[in-house]
Amino acid sequence: MPLTFDRHHAADALASLDGPARDTTEALALDAHRRVLSGETRSPEMLGWRDMLLTPDDALLERIAADAAEIRERADVLLCIGIGGSYLGAEAVMQALVPPFGSDGPEILFAGNHLGPDYHERLFEYLDGKSVYVNVISKSGTTLEPALAFRLARRFLEERFDDADRRIIATTDAERGALHDFAVEKGYRRYVVPNDVGGRFSVLTPVGLLPIAAAGIDIRTLFYGAVAEARDLTDADASHPALQYAADRYTFHEAGYATEVLAVMDPRLKGLGAWWQQLFGESEGKEGKGLFPVVLQYTTDLHSVGQYVQQGKRLLVETFLRLDDADAGLTVQDEPGDPDGLNYLAGVPMGSVNEKAYQGTAEAHAEGGVPNWTLTLSRLDAETVGRLLYFYEHAVAVSGTMLGVDPFDQPGVETYKQKMFSLLGKP
Ligand code: PA5
Repeated sequence: MPLTFDRHHAADALASLDGPARDTTEALALDAHRRVLSGETRSPEMLGWRDMLLTPDDALLERIAADAAEIRERADVLLCIGIGGSYLGAEAVMQALVPPFGSDGPEILFAGNHLGPDYHERLFEYLDGKSVYVNVISKSGTTLEPALAFRLARRFLEERFDDADRRIIATTDAERGALHDFAVEKGYRRYVVPNDVGGRFSVLTPVGLLPIAAAGIDIRTLFYGAVAEARDLTDADASHPALQYAADRYTFHEAGYATEVLAVMDPRLKGLGAWWQQLFGESEGKEGKGLFPVVLQYTTDLHSVGQYVQQGKRLLVETFLRLDDADAGLTVQDEPGDPDGLNYLAGVPMGSVNEKAYQGTAEAHAEGGVPNWTLTLSRLDAETVGRLLYFYEHAVAVSGTMLGVDPFDQPGVETYKQKMFSLLGKP
């Protein structure tokens, strides 16, 4: 099984809660699942992230792969400009699948995902003298952070390259928005963010797929991994892990738990955690509801917030996201004289040490009052990551529907923008 879900460290806590009975939450999850499948959710016009997997557009995948091949051949750097759902998915998949050291192909950098003045200044200093392509990604085409970074990037390219317009690829709305209109006027190559796909659900559209392909990842395998998971879920009953996860989360939410930690056991999974954080935070956190999503990397963060998780205020549930890789990595050598006292680990691969750390932590946290689940990936490849992306997209659609919120809107994000624009004197 590419994805397996283990609930045994949540079982005692679930059994002791006063909330709705297990068969009630399972029935609610199944009902929400059926509503996602039949389009009876809130904002039913925003279910394109699922529909596009059931009718794959192979021609689009090929077009993206061809543009990515050009970028890989001609660019030293691909600068991806976007924020939120317009960059987190691409960054997540790259972090998972591109080797951390010495990978081939262009360097992929991000901009317009914050307003840090120093970062953007140094970025353009760093890019000077390099062959740069830009993929500007904004569905609305009006988000300040990427719009500002794109203005800087455009000037940078136009001052250095005769073919600047060829080096810019715009991923935006099909018909509307300042970026769309500008891209049409300039004749940039364009990709469309489908109307029925929200930003945080857009990783498997050109939003994510172009940068991912430019990083050398096989997008067809990634995409069809998600297709396989979507097809499995179409036939699923309440025992499917995505529905069990949604049902359990709902039970804990109703019982007053407030936070879900996603603890990744490998640094390659951290970006997927950040993507999950946005997916669940923006989809569920409204109308006074939702578990606050936090991503942590273990064992690193056990040495920062591990104390809190073990003994702090009891409001946490936790999911471990890990790989089935106990045999992986370097093996600890035997050392004559055992100077550092580590010979008891001689012959043990690092993956096995990490696995024991996970097992010990899951047990300790359950004993400390943090019910936890484990989602294990059989391997870290494009197909499994594709499956995982859809797993979480479907789970959050079910979970948000169970909560009674609209999983596909994000009205709260506007509030800071209005105040910021008023302070900036936007006309
Ligand atoms: O999920 C969402 O809708 C948001 O995170 C958006 O992706 C983010 O705000 C960026 O919006 P846009 O792509 O319109 O610039």
